Amino acid sequence: MNYPYQLKTLEDYQKAYQQSVQDPEAFWASVAENFTWQKKWDKVLDWNFTEPKVEWFKGAQLNITENCLDRHLATRGHEPAIIWESNDPEEHHRVLSYNELHFKVQQFANVLLNNGVQKGDRVCIYMGMIPELSIATLACARIGAIHSVIFGGFSAQAIADRLDDAGAEFIVTCDGAFRGAKDIPLKSVIDDALVGNKTIKRVIVCTRTRTPVSMLKGRDVWWEDEIKQVETMGNPAVAPVAMDAEDILFILYTSGSTGKPKGVVHTTAGYMVWTNYTFVNVFQYQPGQVHFCTADIGWITGHSYIIYGPLSAGATTLMFEGVPTWPDAGRFWEIVEKYKVDILYTAPTAIRSLMSFGLGPIKGKDLSSLKVLGSVGEPINEEAWHWYNEQIGHKRCPIVDTWWQTETGGVMISNLAGITPAKPSYATLPLPGIQPCLVDENGQEIEGNGVNGNLCIKFPWPGIIRSTYNDHERCKQTYFSTYENLYFTGDGCLRDEEGLYRITGRVDDVLNVSGHRIGTAEVENAINMHAGVIESAVVGFPHDIKGQGIFAYVIIEDTHGDEKRSKQDILQTVARIIGPIAKPDQILFVPGLPKTRSGKIMRRILRKIAEGDTSNLGDTSTLLDPSLVDVIIGLNND
Ligand code: WT7
Repeated sequence: MNYPYQLKTLEDYQKAYQQSVQDPEAFWASVAENFTWQKKWDKVLDWNFTEPKVEWFKGAQLNITENCLDRHLATRGHEPAIIWESNDPEEHHRVLSYNELHFKVQQFANVLLNNGVQKGDRVCIYMGMIPELSIATLACARIGAIHSVIFGGFSAQAIADRLDDAGAEFIVTCDGAFRGAKDIPLKSVIDDALVGNKTIKRVIVCTRTRTPVSMLKGRDVWWEDEIKQVETMGNPAVAPVAMDAEDILFILYTSGSTGKPKGVVHTTAGYMVWTNYTFVNVFQYQPGQVHFCTADIGWITGHSYIIYGPLSAGATTLMFEGVPTWPDAGRFWEIVEKYKVDILYTAPTAIRSLMSFGLGPIKGKDLSSLKVLGSVGEPINEEAWHWYNEQIGHKRCPIVDTWWQTETGGVMISNLAGITPAKPSYATLPLPGIQPCLVDENGQEIEGNGVNGNLCIKFPWPGIIRSTYNDHERCKQTYFSTYENLYFTGDGCLRDEEGLYRITGRVDDVLNVSGHRIGTAEVENAINMHAGVIESAVVGFPHDIKGQGIFAYVIIEDTHGDEKRSKQDILQTVARIIGPIAKPDQILFVPGLPKTRSGKIMRRILRKIAEGDTSNLGDTSTLLDPSLVDVIIGLNND
C-alpha cells in the first residue's frame, strides 16, 4: 500500500496546509480518491455550524471494513493485521493476518445477523482487550450496526445509563477480563446493568477468563457456540453492506460539564478518511511497520489508532491486553523488543508512572526498532518529554505530541514525525484541514502570536462530531453555541511567538485524570447519591502521575464518629455509580461550600485550597460567608 497523500517534507506540509484552507473540497476529494467507494460522492462538503450540520462526501456509499480489510487482501492478505499480546507474558501471543481477520469479521457478522442484528441497530460492546473486541467492532461496521464500545472500567449503573440512552438491543461481552493482577467479571457487571432492562434482546458472551457466569435462558448465548453454528452453515461470506457517507458508524460516550455523559456520534466516510490521513501523516507510517498504541479500545484513541486508522492503511496494529506495570514496569519495553515495534503511542500518565520506577526496567531491553514516539491525552510535561526522548527514543525518535478529542475523531494539532519541528510540551501545528483560532471571553478572535485564549476551530474537518446521540440540541449547545460559527474545544491554549500551539488544559469543569476525561458534575452527582450527603463540590488538583487528581468537598449529615469509614463508603458509591476511575483521591468533609450571594460555588477558591496554595485566594468579598474559607483551609491542614 502506498500513500500518495503522505507528506514527506516541511514544504509538503506547508503546501498541503495552504491547499486545505484555500480549497478544502478539492483537497479532501483528492485524499478520498485513495479509498474504495461503492458509489462516489455528489458533493464533498455541505455545512453550517449553526444547526450544526456537517456532511462530508454526501451521496457516497462505502463500507469502512471493505477499506480496512477487503482491499488489502490481494497485496497484504498474509501480512499481520493484528498482533495480540496477552496480559500474561507467558501466554502465547496471537497474530491475525488480514486474511484471517477478514474471515473472522465475517464469521462474527454472521453471528450478529443470526441473532437478529440489523443495519442501524445499536450494539453495545463491553469486552477486555482481546482480538475478539476488534472483531466484534468491525463485524458491526460490516453489517451497518452502530457500535457503542464501553470501557471495561465503567460500572453497571454507568452501562445501564448508556444502554438506555443508545436504545441498545444487543450486547457483546466477555466472561471476564484480565488487567494486571486483576480479573474483572465483565459479564457479572452486565448482569447488574440489565436488572430491570427491557430492551436488550441478546447478550453474546466470549470466553476469556473462564470465571463462572450466569447465562440467562433465551437472552444469553456463548460466542463460541454461535461461531460453531456459523461453521455448520458453511461460513457464508458477508458482503460489506453499503453505508451512506453520513450513516452513523459508532457512538462513544464521553464526559462533559453536565452530569450526564453524552454519546458522541461519528459517521462513516469522513471518520474513515480522517483517521487514515492523520495516522499516515502524524506517525509517518511506512508499510510493514508495527504500530503499538497502548490505549484501550474503550476510548477514542483505541477506536482511531488501534482499529480504524491503522487497518484502513493496511498497517500492523498491536493490541495489548495488560497494563504497563504488571508483572513489572518493563512490560512495554519487553513488547517493543519482542515485536520490534516501530511506533509507540502512549499517554503522559503512563510515561510518568514508568519514570518513577527508574531505569532498571529498561536495562537490557532492545529498543532500537523504535522510529517514532507519540503522546496523547493530556499536556506532556517537559520532564516526561525529555525522559521519553532520551531513555526510550535515545534521542533518535521524533516525539509527536498529538492534541485531539473524542469529538474530533482524530489528531488535530501535532507535529508530523520527523517532518515538522517538535517542541517539548507543544502540540505545535494544525494538521491540514484544521483552522484553529484563539478567542477571548467575549468571543473576539485574538490574532497574532504570543497570545493566550480559548481554542476554537473555524472550519469543519472530515472527522468532526456530527451530533450527540438522541439529542442534537445538546451537541449544538455544548460545542457550537459558546462562540458563534466556531467549534469550541473546551481547552485553553497558547500560541507562541513562532505560531506554535501549546494546550494549557481545560477551561470548563472537565478533569483529565490519567488521560481519562471525567466531568466534575458527574462525580458530584455520584457523591450526592450517597446516603447522608447534602452537597458536594469536586475540583481537580495537580497530581504527579495522574496529571490531575480528584478532590471532593463534601457536606455530610453525620459521619457517626468514623470519618475514614464514611469516606470509604462514599468511594464505594462513586465506584458503583460511575466506576473506579472516578474515585476521588481526596475527600474533605466541610460544614459548607463557598458560595456567592447568587448561590454559585466559587470553584476557583476550592481549586486553590486543593492545590495547597492559599497565599492568594483573590477576592472573597462577594461570598455569602467569607469566614467559611478559613474554616475549610483549617480542616484541610488538619
Ligand atoms: C481532552 C480530550 C484525544 C484522545 C484522548 C483523550 C486533552 C488530549 C492532548 C495533548 C494536551 C490534550 C485536552 C482535550 N488532551 N490530548 N496532546 N496535549 N491536552 O480524549 O477523553 O476526548 O479528552 O484531552 O484537554 O480536550 P478525550
